[in-house]
Amino acid sequence: MRSINSITDLSVEELDELVHVAEDIIARPQYYAHKMEGKKLATLFFEPSTRTRLSFEAAMYELGGHVIGFSEANSSSAAKGESVADTVRTISCYADIIAMRHPKEGAPLVASMNATVPVINAGDGGHNHPTQTLADLLTIHRERGRFENLVVGVCGDLKFGRTVHSLIEAMSRYEGVRFVMVSPEELKVPSYVKQHLKVRNMPYTQTTDLLSVMPELDILYMTRVQKERFFNEDDYVRLKDSYILVPEKLETAKKDLIIMHPLPRVNEISVAIDTDPRACYFKQVLNGKYMRMALMLKLLEVA
Ligand code: CP
Repeated sequence: MRSINSITDLSVEELDELVHVAEDIIARPQYYAHKMEGKKLATLFFEPSTRTRLSFEAAMYELGGHVIGFSEANSSSAAKGESVADTVRTISCYADIIAMRHPKEGAPLVASMNATVPVINAGDGGHNHPTQTLADLLTIHRERGRFENLVVGVCGDLKFGRTVHSLIEAMSRYEGVRFVMVSPEELKVPSYVKQHLKVRNMPYTQTTDLLSVMPELDILYMTRVQKERFFNEDDYVRLKDSYILVPEKLETAKKDLIIMHPLPRVNEISVAIDTDPRACYFKQVLNGKYMRMALMLKLLEVA
C-alpha cells in the first residue's frame, strides 16, 4: 500500500507513466469506464476547494467507482475534536482510497501513517500540492511536448504557494530546466525549496521585477497571494496586487509562452488574457481530472 505526500514520492519514470496513462484515458475513456467498479474514494477536505475535490470525485465516477466524504471540517467529527489519525482509521473502514486536504502542513502525512488505505495529499497548508503538479505536468507535456530545457517562471506568493513548491520539486528533476522566481521580498520561496535546487545543482534567479524577465520565459506560472495564509490583514492588503498580468505586459513574451495558474485567481491574471492562445489555466483544470484518474488507478493497482 502506497500513499502520496509529495511529488517526489513518484519517480521520474512514474511521472512519465502517469502522463502516458492520462493521455490514454483522454484517447479512449470507455476503456477505463468500469475499472474502479466496487471501489470507493473518500474526499476529506478540511479546507475549501473547487477543482481538487470535484476533479477527484469526477475522476472516480468516470472510472466507475463511488465517492464519500466531506467538504468542510465542521461537517465532520473534527469539529468535536477528533484527531486526523482517528478520522482516517475510521474512514479506512469505509473507503479504498483517501484524498485529503488540510490547512496544517504534514496532516496528510500523519493520515498516511495511520490509514490502512492509500492517502493522497490534496494540499497541506503552505507546503505541498502534488496532484496539482500532476495536472501541471500533463499541461506542460501537452503544450510543449517535453519537460527538459525549459525556463520556468513562477510569480506571486512563492512563500506559501504550495503548488509552486511541488512544481519546482518536480521540474528540478529534468535536465536543462532553469527557474526564474518573481515575488515580493516578503513572499520569496522558502529556504528548503532553494536547498532542494542547490542539492540538484539547478540554476535559479530571484527578482521582484516580472517585466524584466518576461522575454526569457517558456512557462509563466502565476499564483494568488493567499489571504488565508496571512496572520496580518494589513500585510495581505499591501501585497495582494503585487503582480497583475494584463495583455500589455505580454508584449515582450515569447509567442509560444504558456501561461499557467493553479486557480482560483483573484486579480493576478486579467480576464482579458483568457482569450490569448497562450493561456492554459483552464486546460490545467481538465488535465487535473485525467491525472487524478491515472494516479488512483496506479495506487489501487488497477491494470
Ligand atoms: N488548484 C486548486 O487546488 O484549486 P482548489 O483550491 O479549487 O482545489
